[in-house]
Amino acid sequence: MAETLAPMVEALQRGEVIADTEVDLEGPGRRILSFSGTPLRDAFGTLIGSVLIVRDVTGRREVEDLKDEVLSIASHDLRVPVAVIKAQAQLLRRLIDHKKADIGAIDEGLGSIVGQTDHLSRLLTLLLDLSRIEAGRLELAPAPMDLRLLISRTIKGMQATTRRHVLQLRAPQQVRGSWDEHRLQEVLENLLANAVKYSPKGGTIGVHVRAGKRSVTVRVNDQGIGLDLDEMPHVFERFYRAKGTRALEGAGLGLYVCQAIVAAHGGRLWAESAGSGHGSTFSFTLPHATMADA
Ligand SMILES: Nc1ncnc2c1ncn2[C@@H]1O[C@H](COP(=O)(O)OP(=O)(O)OP(=O)(O)O)[C@@H](O)[C@H]1O
Ligand SMILES: [Mg+2]
Repeated sequence: MAETLAPMVEALQRGEVIADTEVDLEGPGRRILSFSGTPLRDAFGTLIGSVLIVRDVTGRREVEDLKDEVLSIASHDLRVPVAVIKAQAQLLRRLIDHKKADIGAIDEGLGSIVGQTDHLSRLLTLLLDLSRIEAGRLELAPAPMDLRLLISRTIKGMQATTRRHVLQLRAPQQVRGSWDEHRLQEVLENLLANAVKYSPKGGTIGVHVRAGKRSVTVRVNDQGIGLDLDEMPHVFERFYRAKGTRALEGAGLGLYVCQAIVAAHGGRLWAESAGSGHGSTFSFTLPHATMADA
């Protein structure tokens, strides 16, 4: 700190003005300080002292960093699917113009457009959720529902996107509770999409639901690339992506949002893995009645 201040004190002693000079105090409790200073003179213009104002701008900088990250995701990850959708639509139009549009080609083109649209809408939802979480406005609308029904519907939708994986559900006939169905669907879609994406060789994805007296536990298990012990605590951080997965597309937001949704329900989400190459299990618990609803 003394080293940081010395050049500013010297500048003030020379009669110079310091305008919003930011200093990054790195370390575990990282703080960013902004210094503004002005020399004080008497009526004759003689330097008689100075004022140095220090402001803690850590929060402001974090918001700016977040905006940069979101913009970079928006400019890349949102552009790619839009470009693919446009290219597919143009290709279909050309096929029609040249009377080569057989049903197989149309089906393939439309399938790709629908897939990219789903991807786009998922990303937009993640970005909107992120802004709500950061603003502390992730509100839930809990209502009585059957979790088994929601999971089996979500599994069906995900199974339609992959031939390499077999998705299996083990759950009681009915799992009643009061939860925000729309938000829980997001959690399930994210966990299942991860299980598919991070097991590129395929395999079984098991979803296991256990209903206890007070809470329900859902486990999503895959036979994919797994997680190292040192990666495990970080996967729920905003924008975090493990070393081996950066070639696969993703923004590093899915689990961050899932955790916020589960926590808002009064539950907990955690990861387990026997290590790299040995698959992963993501589990969450939910109390039968959401706190906001109780
Ligand atoms: N089932 C899984 N197996 C192995 N690693 C996983 C699994 N799920 C998540 N991860 C690791 O955790 C990281 C964070 O996951 P998260 O879902 O938050 O982001 P993402 O999948 O990279 O992008 P997106 O925002 O599109 O979901 C991933 O990049 C990956 O490294
Ligand atoms: Mg993900």
